[in-house]
Amino acid sequence: MTRRVTANLYMTLDGRGEFPKYPGSDVHTGKPGEADEFFQRFWTDRYGDVTTVVMGRRSFVGHRRVHSTKGRKPTDPKYMFEFSRFLDQVEKVCLSHRLKHLDWENSRVLKGDLAKIVAKLQGEKGGNIIIEGGPRLSHEVIRRNLADDYWVLVMPVVYGRGPRYWYPMTTQTNLKLLSASSMPYGELLLHYEAVRERSGLQRK
Ligand SMILES: NC(=O)c1ccc[n+]([C@@H]2O[C@H](COP(=O)([O-])OP(=O)(O)OC[C@H]3O[C@@H](n4cnc5c(N)ncnc54)[C@H](OP(=O)(O)O)[C@@H]3O)[C@@H](O)[C@H]2O)c1
Repeated sequence: MTRRVTANLYMTLDGRGEFPKYPGSDVHTGKPGEADEFFQRFWTDRYGDVTTVVMGRRSFVGHRRVHSTKGRKPTDPKYMFEFSRFLDQVEKVCLSHRLKHLDWENSRVLKGDLAKIVAKLQGEKGGNIIIEGGPRLSHEVIRRNLADDYWVLVMPVVYGRGPRYWYPMTTQTNLKLLSASSMPYGELLLHYEAVRERSGLQRK
């Protein structure tokens, strides 16, 4: 069976790849309807059939620092530890020309043309694949139409700085909206599928 490739994008309303402070970002009670629901819907619920997570070098380093079990603070809620255990165990692919030592179990480095890397991973044994940013990598995935679907989390903040997801592209990419929902603190959760036959239109 083909390994499904899903790209995750996390952005502010102005398309910046930042995790700013806003009322929802501070809620970590573990009570239903609060941050755990947000976490659960975006990460845990969709990850049962995922065996590979691909990250750009910066995102890999950031995840290792914040989301590995080693990086967890004892005060972090249980659902965050669950996510960290998942990340520790899953196969992680770090894209990098310069990193040699990854210092995180079940990790390897790949480099080169992104389409070839995605095809290589799809040709290997395993479950589904998540491409977990950062913004630069996600931009290339969209521009080259490399994912089967996209989960976009939009935070209700116009941040005004930080890494951009959107800057000019020479092709148009069409997507089909599969679902749209909102979270308790105004975050939007958008799920799009790639529309391969209508995408990639070259601009005049
Ligand atoms: N999901 C997320 O992790 C996420 C979401 C939102 C915001 N952010 C924030 O965004 C920032 C990082 O995002 P970013 O867009 O600047 O960086 P990124 O996409 O995480 O990493 C970019 C780096 O990945 C490597 N790379 C990408 N494609 C490659 C390829 N085909 N072959 C070899 N190496 C490749 C290169 O590293 P080398 O220089 O080593 O070659 C490149 O400099 C962080 O501050 C993070 O907090 C992250």
